Amino acid sequence: MNFIPDGCSFHYLFEDKTSLICLIIILMFTLKKSEVLRMQYRYLDLRSPRMQYNLRLRSQMVMKMRVYLCSLHGFVDVETPTLFKRTPGGAKEFVVPTGDPGKFYSLPQSPQQFKQLLMVAGIDRYFQLARCYRDEGSKPDRQPEFTQVDIEISFVDQAGVMSLIEGLIHYSWPEDKGPINVPFPSMTYEEAMRDYGVDKPDTRFGMKLVDVTTAFQTTQIEFIKDALLKPGGCIQAICIPEGTNHLKCKDLEFLKQTAKTQYGQEVSVAPVRADGSLKSPLSRLLSDTAKQQLLQMAHANAGDLIFITAGPLENVRLLLGKLRLQCVELLECYGVPVRDPSVFHFLWVVDFPLFLPKEDDPEMLESAHHPFTAPVPEDAHLLYTQPHKVRGQHYDLVLNGCEIGGGSIRIHNASQQLYILDTILKEDPSLLSHLLEALDSGAPPHGGIALGLDRLVSIIVGAPSIRDVIAFPKSFRGHDIMSHAPDFVSEEDLKPYHISVVWPSAGQQDNSM
Ligand code: AMO
Repeated sequence: MNFIPDGCSFHYLFEDKTSLICLIIILMFTLKKSEVLRMQYRYLDLRSPRMQYNLRLRSQMVMKMRVYLCSLHGFVDVETPTLFKRTPGGAKEFVVPTGDPGKFYSLPQSPQQFKQLLMVAGIDRYFQLARCYRDEGSKPDRQPEFTQVDIEISFVDQAGVMSLIEGLIHYSWPEDKGPINVPFPSMTYEEAMRDYGVDKPDTRFGMKLVDVTTAFQTTQIEFIKDALLKPGGCIQAICIPEGTNHLKCKDLEFLKQTAKTQYGQEVSVAPVRADGSLKSPLSRLLSDTAKQQLLQMAHANAGDLIFITAGPLENVRLLLGKLRLQCVELLECYGVPVRDPSVFHFLWVVDFPLFLPKEDDPEMLESAHHPFTAPVPEDAHLLYTQPHKVRGQHYDLVLNGCEIGGGSIRIHNASQQLYILDTILKEDPSLLSHLLEALDSGAPPHGGIALGLDRLVSIIVGAPSIRDVIAFPKSFRGHDIMSHAPDFVSEEDLKPYHISVVWPSAGQQDNSM
């Protein structure tokens, strides 16, 4: 299928005679286009063959998704409000002023509550291409406004949702991207954290985390001894095949510094010499048996690089998971082909804990997915005694190391929902009284999922950012560089909203894009 239209050839652009446009086009098409320039003249940038291809492929996929869901599987496309109210859990929301003094709408971070209410309402197969809003920092795979393929089904279980999504992706998959195999493999959250140090593993390459604690059992190395004495202390490693041939001293220094500054962790780097010996200060402090054990456990050969770190299990996993990805990025910068860009590795991650310790207050719990996720039935009794041990009926879909979807089977019992909100999460349940009442009026068992459409399409087309598959994206600061949104509103226009602006002092103003 060829998505590139005839109309985007360059002679067409040059028919616009104004010198300004010509200059911009020359800048955009012959010089290296900067992101800012592309966004400022987006209507011109969109004429490029690449952007035309991306938007047309997105449109084709969406059309096939509608056919699959509505025509072939009886789903009903329902629009839900985008002026809503603040509710507990999840990302920070944008607020919208109203004429009622002190009252604000919130823009929904997802239609989660509405789709559950639709299940109570008897729309047993709901689908929507939903615009969602989250007031959080932008990244290449994140925008303040984005689109979900949002789905909810009554009388369904986890396997039912997963197989529907496999069918949906298979059906809407672009022909020119080659075939994909379904069903997708799955992995538990614990396996993902153990082997990859992250809950969205990129399974296109190995370099898995290995526990090498036993090799260091009798060590006299101070920082390792200290780490092992702490609760949950362990030593883990990753091995970068042929790393000594590609990664330079400055790269290793950078990685060690990042570990120290961002994770507060020491990392030892042990290159393996051609004769199989370790070129590291650690080497002098380890017995020959321990060294052999370390090499075997890390599956290391001559020319490989071993990264070793010690500390509490969670910290060690997070750090090595990050180092694993950073090393691959560095290798690829040096032209070492580790990940094939034309390969698509889908993966389900299942058996998440229902709750995780809050980042800023580890004594408190927060939902691993959202507060409406049901516990695994066998674990439900632990809600009342050891909530941190309860697993959730939550599943994430990962593609090439990026979370492209997340969903769960929901709580459909009002008293269990109230207990989780009030007693475990310490949220104000009155903010969700509408949902609690609806569940109380007789809700069918239900579950669903939302796919991040921008992320899915950006990975399929091999774009470095979701901005390359969104017609009019926001900058990393959440601004529209073309129209200068957000913009000032006069005091006069703010009056009906009972709002007056308190200006920060000169030093506090942030004028970056
Ligand atoms: P969740 O929060 O996991 O689940 O979101 C679902 C998917 O939406 C995408 N996504 C984003 N894409 C771009 N920019 C963002 N800021 C952004 N945030 C999330 C991701 C993610 O996997 N209501 C639940 C779904 C459910 O339980 O059915 C929800 O929104 O690809």
